[in-house]
Amino acid sequence: MSAPNKPYDPVAVAALGADEVARMQADALAAIAAATTLDALREVKVAHSGDRSPLALANREIKALPPAARADAGRRVGAARAAVAEALSVRGHELEADRDARVLLEEAVDVALPWDRAPRGARHPLTTIQERIGEVFVAMGWEVAEGPEVEPEWYNFDALNMGPDHPARSMMDTFFVAPPGSGRVLRTHTSPVQVRAMLHRELPLYVVCPGRVFRTDELDATHSPVFHQVEGLAVDERLSMADLKGTLDHFASTMFGEGLRTRWRPSYFPFTEPSAELDIQCFVCRGESVVPGAPPCRTCASEGWIEWGGCGMVNPRVLVACGIDPERYRGFAFGMGLERALMFRHNVADMRDMFEGDVRFTLAFGTEI
Ligand code: FA5
Ligand code: MG
Repeated sequence: MSAPNKPYDPVAVAALGADEVARMQADALAAIAAATTLDALREVKVAHSGDRSPLALANREIKALPPAARADAGRRVGAARAAVAEALSVRGHELEADRDARVLLEEAVDVALPWDRAPRGARHPLTTIQERIGEVFVAMGWEVAEGPEVEPEWYNFDALNMGPDHPARSMMDTFFVAPPGSGRVLRTHTSPVQVRAMLHRELPLYVVCPGRVFRTDELDATHSPVFHQVEGLAVDERLSMADLKGTLDHFASTMFGEGLRTRWRPSYFPFTEPSAELDIQCFVCRGESVVPGAPPCRTCASEGWIEWGGCGMVNPRVLVACGIDPERYRGFAFGMGLERALMFRHNVADMRDMFEGDVRFTLAFGTEI
């Protein structure tokens, strides 16, 4: 018995019939039309025109047909495959065009949109003014010093010639640190940094110290229980009141502009002798309001002047307490209010605005980082 001819598979031949090929083509075209994304179309392409798609399998079966049937079947399957390929290509172009249009729309940049919608952070004006003050003095060859906010009473009072019965030591002004009798206070001024500088630094000495201080003061338009001062101290062999005045005049003009006048009033501090308080000519009325008949000024209560801080020649008793020979060295010192400086500089009528944390206030000072 000879080997049988290559088996003739009636199922496969049926699969190449006109109806069946038309159905495969219709399935493919429906799937192509239903693909709404390029990814979906890629899957449809694999399923309906890939190597294992029904039409590709049918194409392979053509060889198994009797020769007479091959041409017919080949034309039928070829036409179906071509139709599917054409539909895939057309749909592909459509979907690409859709995608491009969408991307153009989504990635469009509206150059007219405001760019500054997200507010930028910035440091508080009290911080930037402290730095600016430091720069003014560093430019003159001074150093910037720091001291702790909790101080032994000795630094805050005794070394500054304020004996135990001095009124500034009473509960009225000072926050004492628990427990009672701890001997520590929240510093009531920046002057204890003078003492630290004299004890620990070489002479001659030129230091400024901006910092936070604490007093049991009520919060009002010109006072706060927590506020800032900048202390200045110079100790050298031939210093006089003229050096103090020149320094503070320069300081005031860099802070408040040229031409603003300063005034010295005799005053008293236990740690300076002689002592003075420095007033700045009112930044609103420029002193005009004191002239009889002139409109009144609310800012300086028509005084024409506003107190900025205290100053004087360092009391020799303080020099002695810090181990400095008062026969050889003299010093001058000052302590100015920084909130007051901001008020003068920027016409701030109420100091409380500085502590509320409202960005509308700080934004007025610009967004300096
Ligand atoms: C002093 O504190 C002295 N240590 C200054 C000094 C230093 C004198 C060195 C001599 C030598 P006085 O208490 O006046 O002085 O305060 C100085 C400045 O701090 C005031 O002029 C004012 O500008 C500011 N100030 C005082 N109390 C407050 C407060 N409660 N709130 C805001 N600023 C204040
Ligand atoms: Mg004062």
